[in-house]
Amino acid sequence: MPIARFATLLVVTGFLSTVGHLGAPAFGALDDDLVALDIVSKIHTDRSLTARASSDFGHIVEAAPNGVFHPVSPADIAALIRFSLYQQTPFTVAPRGKGHSSRGQALAPGGIVVDMPSLGRGDHGHRVNVSIDGMYVDVGGEQLWFDVLHATLKHGLTPRVWTDYLRITVGGTLSNAGIGGQVFRHGPQISNVRELDVVTGTGDMITCSPGNNSDLFYGALGGLGQFGVITRARVGLERAPKRVKWVRLAYTDVHQFTADQELLISNGAGFDYVEGQVQLNRTLTEGRRSSSFFSAAELARLTELALGTGSSAVYYIEGAMYYDDGSASTVDRKLEALLEELSFVPGFAFVRDASYVQFLDRVGQEEQKLRSAGAWDVPHPWLNLFVPRSRIHDFAAGVFDGVLRGTRPVGLILMYPMNRDRWDDRMTTVTPDEDVFYAVGLLRSAVAAGDLERLERENEAALGLCDRAGIGCKQYLPHHASQEGWRRHFGAKWDRVAALKATYDPRAILSPGQGIFPAAVASTTPATITAS
Ligand SMILES: Cc1cc2nc3c(=O)[nH]c(=O)nc-3n(C[C@H](O)[C@H](O)[C@H](O)COP(=O)(O)OP(=O)(O)OC[C@H]3O[C@@H](n4cnc5c(N)ncnc54)[C@H](O)[C@@H]3O)c2cc1C
Ligand SMILES: *[C@@H]1O[C@H](CO)[C@@H](O)[C@H](O)[C@H]1NC(C)=O
Ligand SMILES: *[C@@H]1O[C@H](CO)[C@@H](O)[C@H](O)[C@H]1NC(C)=O
Ligand SMILES: *[C@@H]1O[C@H](CO)[C@@H](O)[C@H](O)[C@H]1NC(C)=O
Repeated sequence: MPIARFATLLVVTGFLSTVGHLGAPAFGALDDDLVALDIVSKIHTDRSLTARASSDFGHIVEAAPNGVFHPVSPADIAALIRFSLYQQTPFTVAPRGKGHSSRGQALAPGGIVVDMPSLGRGDHGHRVNVSIDGMYVDVGGEQLWFDVLHATLKHGLTPRVWTDYLRITVGGTLSNAGIGGQVFRHGPQISNVRELDVVTGTGDMITCSPGNNSDLFYGALGGLGQFGVITRARVGLERAPKRVKWVRLAYTDVHQFTADQELLISNGAGFDYVEGQVQLNRTLTEGRRSSSFFSAAELARLTELALGTGSSAVYYIEGAMYYDDGSASTVDRKLEALLEELSFVPGFAFVRDASYVQFLDRVGQEEQKLRSAGAWDVPHPWLNLFVPRSRIHDFAAGVFDGVLRGTRPVGLILMYPMNRDRWDDRMTTVTPDEDVFYAVGLLRSAVAAGDLERLERENEAALGLCDRAGIGCKQYLPHHASQEGWRRHFGAKWDRVAALKATYDPRAILSPGQGIFPAAVASTTPATITAS
């Protein structure tokens, strides 16, 4: 054995025993001993770093990695993965964007968490490249959508589809789908990607697109991090509007609410963005501070509306119409004509005028308020479901008037429809099998003792209702405790998911926190936090 190689192995094995038995190295081929040394030097094992990578936005599960890896390039990630595969028992590798998952999906119990933002650190703008001719942006997987927005706006361009919150990463949302109010028209974010660079679980760096390595392209988009680490995405752009008419329309009748939402998503010339919210009775009646949208006086009127009808909830359609400074009067007429077609409670249309950025970053403003109230870093047992249109009223009756009746949720309940023909069935994301389905997000926070357990029971009850009544709900940002649950989740796509896994991550080292494929690797079991 050459001396250099021997020295490297000493360092490597010494490192491995200090960080806690990642496994003895097998005497296979590691391309380059210097590479191994370089990789090891980028793995940080100090408690302050591993502790931060042990939890996520959900604050429901907790599990420490053995180390946190700070890559400076995609090649570093490839080398880390090859280094893992070189061990007799490989260690797991979880890319972590901002760790905004809610059930430990970005954790690597006993493995290595890849701190994706390291890729962009100290790099002045080379991780977001706009092509004006091509109408696309090449963006690093670690980039925040907020930064992508500002980089593209410099050229008067913008991606078409946005999540409600922008301080999450391109790779993180593209591993799920990326949904929001523009999806009815343009499909989820994964439907707006033209090309990817992916580091697979075999340590290969592959460029893929619909025409090249297409199985990996359709696998990685919405792939829950199972087949590779997305290090670059080419995202389509359109001309950016300057301003937005931002509208909320209140309903007390859920049937009118959904009928109007469905009209709006079938209507090409209406709103550019359509979402909706459910305000359960008691959230309103307990007189909350003014929200970032409603004034205190408007909230008081809405409360009276809720009480007056004896309805269990008030529903809002949230819509947005884009426009430019030159077309301010046209947009007013267009909006007025559109509102005339809708059946909200007379007098309960609320219109705001906002810049495009203010509108897109609305949750960022809410975040600041919640942070200063100490209400951001709390457990978030969020449940997101796709519900087929034909059963949305059974779902609403069972959940809003049943499971959640009389509760006072802290947080939001979202409910809005999307068109399935904007989703691409070659991807492994799953939706209900109907032309229109609803996203329903029970986005609630646990703020007091006992909340987490109660909210989890309510989530279980909502899922149980979906099953018992045969509603055919599919989870978005899914979590299933057993492989049987995952098989049911993927349904007819399960065989494809398993085949992609066998090809691109045969040792099952990537994103173990999803819990889809048991890793035949060194790992520990995440602990569930029960006390709150
Ligand atoms: C306030 C708030 C609002 C939200 N609103 C929306 C919304 O409107 N629409 C919506 O679709 N989602 C929304 N989300 C959910 C968001 O999409 C998820 O949190 C998602 O996990 C992205 O977060 P992240 O970038 O921090 O990824 P992480 O949580 O760090 O990672 C998520 C998963 O993807 C894997 N992963 C991370 N980076 C990569 C990569 N580059 N390549 C491959 N796999 C990777 C991780 O291992 C993990 O399994 C919201 C979340 C929050 C906290
Ligand atoms: C942006 O362009 C630079 C210079 O060509 C290149 O080095 C970099 O990798 C590109 N970044 C992305 C994310 O494509
Ligand atoms: C196709 O993918 C391979 C492998 O990553 C890459 O080398 C090649 O440049 C790609 N071809 C095109 C046309 O993008
Ligand atoms: C609505 O809230 C009021 C006041 O808290 C309560 O008395 C009433 O039962 C609630 N109605 C429903 C349908 O939940």
